Amino acid sequence: MFLWGGRFKEKSDNTFLNFNRSLHFDYILVEQDILSLISWSKFLLSSKVINKFEQKSIEKCLNEIKENVKNNLNIILKSNCEDIHTWLESEIIRKIGNIGKKIRTGRSRNEQITTSLKMWCKHVINKLIKYIKNLQIKILTLSEKCINIVMPGYTHLQIAQPILFSHWCLSYYEMLHRDKIRLKHILQEIDFCPLGSGAISGVSYKINRKRLAKEIHFSDITKNSIDSVSDRDYVIEILSASSIGMMHLSRLSEDLIFFNSSETNFIELSDCITSGSSLMPQKKNPDVLELIRGKCGRVYGSLISILVTLKGIPMSYNKDMQEDKECLFDAINTWSNCINMMALVFKNISVNYKNCLRSVENSFANSTDLLDYLVSKGVSFKESHDIVGKIVLYAINKKKYLNQIKISVFKSYSDFFENDLYDYISIKNVLNRKNSFGGTSKKQVLHSIKTAKKKI
Ligand code: ARG
Repeated sequence: MFLWGGRFKEKSDNTFLNFNRSLHFDYILVEQDILSLISWSKFLLSSKVINKFEQKSIEKCLNEIKENVKNNLNIILKSNCEDIHTWLESEIIRKIGNIGKKIRTGRSRNEQITTSLKMWCKHVINKLIKYIKNLQIKILTLSEKCINIVMPGYTHLQIAQPILFSHWCLSYYEMLHRDKIRLKHILQEIDFCPLGSGAISGVSYKINRKRLAKEIHFSDITKNSIDSVSDRDYVIEILSASSIGMMHLSRLSEDLIFFNSSETNFIELSDCITSGSSLMPQKKNPDVLELIRGKCGRVYGSLISILVTLKGIPMSYNKDMQEDKECLFDAINTWSNCINMMALVFKNISVNYKNCLRSVENSFANSTDLLDYLVSKGVSFKESHDIVGKIVLYAINKKKYLNQIKISVFKSYSDFFENDLYDYISIKNVLNRKNSFGGTSKKQVLHSIKTAKKKI
């Protein structure tokens, strides 16, 4: 069945019909399209286009279709209708005949598609928020478990200062928190219902758009019918949030790949989430993390795709916009899978505390603290920086770490050095002193965990 045809003399070319068709991907919107159609039927009743009996039959029929497709989406997929709106109308007409032919009164696919898509987006955003929350819980669980594990913190992938493993975990907790906030913000932006905008210029029937919007759980309505049918900002915003979210997961993957490498051996991933090599029997590869890192590029691609698609298209609806859906669906699917996969990874990490500690001990991660020591004795920061730099150079040449250098050597660089410096630069004290809010001291990290647990 077609929703058009009266003004055409010739039959459509099949190749064109296949090219034009969107049913094989927009079938996903069937439930949303049904709900908005039910609310439309109520409007048609209130404006006396259909009577009570007709409205009831339409609603009953739509609810039956909803149940049928729940169990078997193939009913839709085997049809060769142009899109989900066409399929739905043809199904109603097939089931209840002529009454079904009234359902399209005053309604255009231009507003239908964006209404259903917005409804679908709201639904998946809520799902995404739940997935992110679950990953955050897994991260918190590991942070609590590892509260006594010290590891090197890096900048430029060079050992910088000692941190708690839990503190590193919580840095990703924060990123994920922002991902959630971003999604919640989009939920507000999206919450304007376009229904009642017609094809471009509005609806000629007396219509209470606010009531219609409420029926399908929108809190407000769009303000301009032209903008209503042509706005896809929300698609861009979701893809942008997905891209940022995937970037976070990709960085997290990269960190974990590094921590899992034969060079650092800070963590080990369970057998159940790693894979082997077809040639090298000794290998246990973190494919899962590499895949998450790799899929980030795919989601970026979707964002760029929609931005380029929308650039320069004239007001208002143009068929170009049909290209918004496949990339959106794919990106949301990819992001959801990656969040859930990362949650599984966090359940299957064991941290090798000895290797983490050894790496801090065999490093100059406490150099800043040696500098702070001099500052505490009254030496200027600039001068202290210079002195400690020279001592580090000495230590490198002598193949020693700071705590292995004799006091007499320290004293040859500055008279302010005393025996208490060894205690001052011990890893335990270095960590405990980082007690500024959000710092790496055990007290601060425990506080962050407690606050996060309460909030979540
Ligand atoms: N399949 C279309 C889309 O995804 C629906 C709107 C079509 N409107 C039209 N006048 N052809 O955007």
